[in-house]
Amino acid sequence: MMDSRDQEAEIHPLKNEDRKSQENLGNQLKNEDNLKSMPLQSRLSRCRAVAFFLSLFICLFVVFVISFIIPCPDRPASQRMWRVDYSAAVTYDFLAVEDINRDRIRDVLFLYKHTNSSSNFSRSCADEGLSSPCTFVAVVSGANGSMLWERPVASDVALVKCAVSQPRSSEVSSACILVGRPHSVIAVDLFSGKTLWTHPSSLGRNASILSPLLQLPDVDGDGTPDLLLLVREEEEVNGYIYSGTTGHQIGHRGSLGIDGESGFLLHVTRTGAHYILFPCASSLCGCSVKGLYEKVTRRDGPFKKDPLWENMLNATTCRRLVHSAGAVRHLVHIPGKAGADVLLVGAEACVLLDGQALTPRWTLNRAQVLRKPIFGHYKPDALAVVIENGTGIHRQILLLDLSSGAILWSQALPSLPGAPGSASLPTADHRSAFFFWGFHELDSTNETETGATWHSLYMLHPTLPNVLLELANISANIVTFEAVLFEPSRHAAYVLLTGPTTSDVPGLVSLIKHRVRDLVPSSRVVHLSEAGPDSDQAVRDRFSRLRYRSEA
Ligand SMILES: *[C@@H]1O[C@H](CO)[C@@H](O)[C@H](O)[C@H]1NC(C)=O
Ligand SMILES: *[C@@H]1O[C@H](CO)[C@@H](O)[C@H](O)[C@H]1NC(C)=O
Ligand SMILES: *[C@@H]1O[C@H](CO)[C@@H](O)[C@H](O)[C@H]1NC(C)=O
Ligand SMILES: *[C@@H]1O[C@H](CO)[C@@H](O)[C@H](O)[C@H]1NC(C)=O
Ligand SMILES: *[C@@H]1O[C@H](CO)[C@@H](O)[C@H](O)[C@H]1NC(C)=O
Ligand SMILES: *[C@@H]1O[C@H](CO)[C@@H](O)[C@H](O)[C@H]1NC(C)=O
Ligand SMILES: *[C@@H]1O[C@H](CO)[C@@H](O)[C@H](O)[C@H]1NC(C)=O
Ligand SMILES: *[C@@H]1O[C@H](CO)[C@@H](O)[C@H](O)[C@H]1NC(C)=O
Repeated sequence: MMDSRDQEAEIHPLKNEDRKSQENLGNQLKNEDNLKSMPLQSRLSRCRAVAFFLSLFICLFVVFVISFIIPCPDRPASQRMWRVDYSAAVTYDFLAVEDINRDRIRDVLFLYKHTNSSSNFSRSCADEGLSSPCTFVAVVSGANGSMLWERPVASDVALVKCAVSQPRSSEVSSACILVGRPHSVIAVDLFSGKTLWTHPSSLGRNASILSPLLQLPDVDGDGTPDLLLLVREEEEVNGYIYSGTTGHQIGHRGSLGIDGESGFLLHVTRTGAHYILFPCASSLCGCSVKGLYEKVTRRDGPFKKDPLWENMLNATTCRRLVHSAGAVRHLVHIPGKAGADVLLVGAEACVLLDGQALTPRWTLNRAQVLRKPIFGHYKPDALAVVIENGTGIHRQILLLDLSSGAILWSQALPSLPGAPGSASLPTADHRSAFFFWGFHELDSTNETETGATWHSLYMLHPTLPNVLLELANISANIVTFEAVLFEPSRHAAYVLLTGPTTSDVPGLVSLIKHRVRDLVPSSRVVHLSEAGPDSDQAVRDRFSRLRYRSEA
């Protein structure tokens, strides 16, 4: 038990000490001890104070050193704008954006055809045993446009597929696979530019290479995906399988026994069976990969069959699966909860097909779409598809809700021939910023009279659906356009590859990067409906403050 004084001592420890010392004063016997302990205690508390302030000082000093004296690990500064020029060259409709020098800023890979490479550190066509002119693969730094590597690869290039993983002595590397003309298959290491392998291909003289190059699951048991090249020879599509590690052809040529066009899609059904889908004369055609693989290798492969699909194919390898109103122009995969669905974009309608039963989920009639659709988010986290209905002065941009096919936004936006495709970038509010090319006649200015042939770049954000921001006017011929986040969750930029319209006439080829935000202050605000409550400056401020998000 505690007596009341001790309890009080716990509540008022200092008071208690006073009282104790008073008691001690009266106590003659213990007086000497106390006279010694008193200064000792105060000296102790002084020590404590010194220790406290010393450690505080050390803490502050460490904070100071870390924040001001020791520099942060060097983060390469990204230039807001850069440009790379090649004279007397032609270029290809291809761009790949990947962090190649591992500085955490993505870099740009592109192709050009030139008799001389721009810099003398790179080799010439003759060094690779190619006749001049030949096609180069080039990678420029996304930070400042400086050349990382470039090398001649083939006389001409028909197909490219980048970021194909390659197992290299314990570390996984990435490669670009190129299908060259005349026929060769080449793999180039993405990080060093070294040729990993190159093989002549056994394609016939009149073969036309169909796109894209498909990546099959590993069939030769080396742990790398393998490659399926589809080629049209004498009104029939043939398949060639190549090893992804060595480039060796696996088996023989396998005929699909059917004619078809570019736009192949490797589809996996919900039961895990692989089928190739492609456009063929106003229909969607399908082939069993298992059937094709058995034809090519005369062996059993790692592929499955889907009973429902085998029923649709009637025990043949390939056949027409779905009839479409008008020609089929594009096939696109739509990620779904249970597996991918297929968006069939036709000359007269767009249909979203269920990925298992191939039955329509929704159909948008009276839409003449030529260009491959792109995706973005109009409502938060709900995927929308952007299609272009019609061409030229009758072109209209439509944003459709992917789950229902309902039109979310539509706007007439005429385009000139050769206008590049649209793009989108995710923003921090779980929507997307959309970029469209065109020229608008909303101000009823007669564009054709002035002879201007520039393309204008417009930006839309779903929070301001009645406003388009005209970011830039470009008069050069645009070969490829892409909207890119060079660094995760940082500034949005766009990359333009411009060059001659035909590959016969070499001219100036330029690769240009611009930061979107830098273009906003000088942009033109286009009100699509009667002017809203926002002033032009307020609209520009809203666009300047947009934050972007890296795709997961
Ligand atoms: C290519 O470069 C070499 C030397 O750099 C030059 O002599 C030659 O004229 C160039 N050829 C063309 C077609 O520009
Ligand atoms: C490239 O050419 C310049 C002059 O044109 C020369 O100074 C430089 O040393 C050359 N670089 C290499 C790697 O040969
Ligand atoms: C460009 O950026 C790279 C890093 O991405 C850096 O290594 C290089 O020195 C820079 N070049 C110039 C000319 O600033
Ligand atoms: C290639 O096509 C041309 C015309 O398209 C034809 O004259 C020629 O006979 C074909 N060659 C072969 C090997 O099929
Ligand atoms: C394929 O099967 C369908 C019914 O599923 C049938 O109508 C059609 O005649 C069959 N075609 C051939 C070539 O066997
Ligand atoms: C597509 O454009 C055509 C002609 O410009 C028009 O008749 C049709 O209604 C448009 N389709 C949609 C879905 O808006
Ligand atoms: C625009 O110019 C063309 C040809 O110069 C002319 O035919 C057309 O009527 C003009 N349109 C307007 C709206 O002025
Ligand atoms: C593009 O050109 C048009 C007509 O010359 C002009 O009105 C507009 O402001 C320009 N836009 C930009 C972003 O410079």
